[in-house]
Formats: sequence, structure tokens, C-alpha cells
Amino acid sequence: MIDVLRRGAGVVLAVAGLAMSGGASAGDAGQTVFERNCRACHSIVRMQNRVGPSLFGVIDRPTASISSFEYSQALRSFSSVWSEAILDAFLGDPQAMVPGTSMRFPGLKDPAERAALIAYLKGL
Ligand code: HEC
Repeated sequence: MIDVLRRGAGVVLAVAGLAMSGGASAGDAGQTVFERNCRACHSIVRMQNRVGPSLFGVIDRPTASISSFEYSQALRSFSSVWSEAILDAFLGDPQAMVPGTSMRFPGLKDPAERAALIAYLKGL
């Protein structure tokens, strides 16, 4: 009996999951991209640094500007602003955009994923 209940609950959760992904907005899609690719190293909580700096309010923020985070020399010398276009290029291939960056991430190759992610970061 308990087994049947458990299985029943599993089906309900699975259906709820499908319903959610079916009606997902761009923001939800971006959040999923963030959870899968960035969360291991980045927090979206203001001033909360992990392996990488907090990404709260990163859009239009000057590069390497969180004073409590120790950036690589490479990113400090990059000296720019995280506009959507620059962030898009960086996320596509971090090492190509900022050679020597300490962000060990191969890049998000899918432009649609990058666009959803940037929309999500913009809304934080
Ligand atoms: C393996 C850990 C790791 C992963 C995964 C990672 N990052 Fe980073 N990120 C870092 C580190 C470390 C830095 C600092 C780079 C430096 O100083 O050169 C950084 C820096 C950044 C910066 C510059 C922030 C600033 O204040 O100038 C942005 C933007 C960024 N990451 C976005 C992302 C996004 C978006 C993702 C997911 C697609 C991601 N990162 C995935 C570790 C990571």
C-alpha cells in the first residue's frame, strides 16, 4: 500500500515537472541554465562570493569590481563593463575573451541558452 502511494506521488511530481517545463518563461529557462552551469561556483546573493564573485546585478557592472573578491590579473586588466554583448561573448568562450582568466569554464556554446541566462541575470 505504501509502495503504491509512493509510486502515485512520483507520477504526480513527474507530471507537475512536465507542466512546469511546458509553460516555462525565458526567465525560468535562464534559471535552469544558471543552475546547471554556474551555480557550482557563483551565488546570485548580493556580495556573496564563492569560487567566483557574486553575480547579483552583474549586468552593466564594471568588470572585476567586487572589492571582497580576488580577481585574476587577467580580468583586472580587462577593464570593461559587463554589457549584455560583452557578457554574451565572455560566456561563449571565457578564455578567448579574457585569456588567463581564473574562471575554469569551457563556455556555453548555444546562443539561445546564453540569451536566456543573460535575461535571467538581468532580472535579479
Ligand atoms: C568552475 C567555476 C566557475 C564556473 C562553473 C563559472 N564561473 Fe564565472 N567565474 C569564476 C571565477 C573563478 C571568476 C573570476 C575570474 C577571474 O578573476 O579571472 C568568475 C568570473 C565571472 C564573471 C566576472 C564577474 C565580475 O565581477 O567581473 C562573470 C560575469 C561570470 N563569472 C559569470 C559566470 C556564468 C554566467 C557562469 C555560468 C554559465 C559561470 N560564470 C560559471 C568561476 C566560475
